Amino acid sequence: MTAITRVDAFAPATVANLGVGFDILGLALQAPGDIVRAEWGGDDPCAALVAIEGDNGLLPRDAKNTAIVSANHLLKTLKARRGVNLTIYKHLPLASGLGSSAASAVAAVVAVNALFGEPLTRADLLPSCLEGEAAVSGYHADNVAPALFGGITLVTGTSAHQILQLPVPADLHLALVTPDVAVPTALARAVLPKEVPLRTLVAQTAGVARVIDALYRGDIPSLAAAMESDSVIEPARAHLMPRLAEMRLIAKNAGAYGLVISGAGPTLCAVCASAAAAQRIAEAMKKHYDAAGIASAARHTLVATGGAVILETGSEK
Ligand code: HSE
Repeated sequence: MTAITRVDAFAPATVANLGVGFDILGLALQAPGDIVRAEWGGDDPCAALVAIEGDNGLLPRDAKNTAIVSANHLLKTLKARRGVNLTIYKHLPLASGLGSSAASAVAAVVAVNALFGEPLTRADLLPSCLEGEAAVSGYHADNVAPALFGGITLVTGTSAHQILQLPVPADLHLALVTPDVAVPTALARAVLPKEVPLRTLVAQTAGVARVIDALYRGDIPSLAAAMESDSVIEPARAHLMPRLAEMRLIAKNAGAYGLVISGAGPTLCAVCASAAAAQRIAEAMKKHYDAAGIASAARHTLVATGGAVILETGSEK
């Protein structure tokens, strides 16, 4: 009999909020993403960290690591009788608004589940992923759900049946620029208003409804306008994002339909309708940061319709 001894899983970067949909909308990107390798550990049924590559030594190496928290939750759920060793290959910048903690948590859980022979469904894995995400950025699923399930997700609660898949327009291209400043999610949440006026609530609700309508109609210009209609979160966070207003102009002058903060920032996400436009817009945004002396990374990509994937399994007889 062949036994699996090693699994590498990939989980994608995600754009949470889609502007107006704070904590309830998110999408998975085709690239980049984190990879987690799971191998069998000792007799103690817990997750141990072998190494983290690509984080410049910034992530916790102890039980507080998001991948370890999630893997430990899964081991408990499985009533496992042995432990696992995890190696994390970080390809996402930290505290950048691209769902870095969610990607590591999801990749870890998918890898560990596969190591055990996939006893749980994707839906069953959601609570373990959320546990890791909660350890760093709060108990919300707008990064974890798209990283786990793929596509564009409407998060109406934290149970799998409350995660709804929305249509992904084929010509929805995204241009992303990440300035080299860290915006920890906890800080970006601390600056938010505790209450909003009723008329603001009505406008925000209408904005989310417009996003969903535009997705169902595949109408990219309307989608971008609806995403940008956020009048609660962006105004409160704008000061944390270098040159946000200028970047919106730069992106639009280069052909973008709109631009929003990706998740809690500082990555900015421009909505485009072709690969050529997305490439041009990503370059224009980076050039503008370069001119301002702000280091940045720019990329353009599409929505990933599938979520985390198993890349490779190793086995022995
Ligand atoms: N919805 C979250 C926020 C995403 O904007 O704070 C970041 O985890």
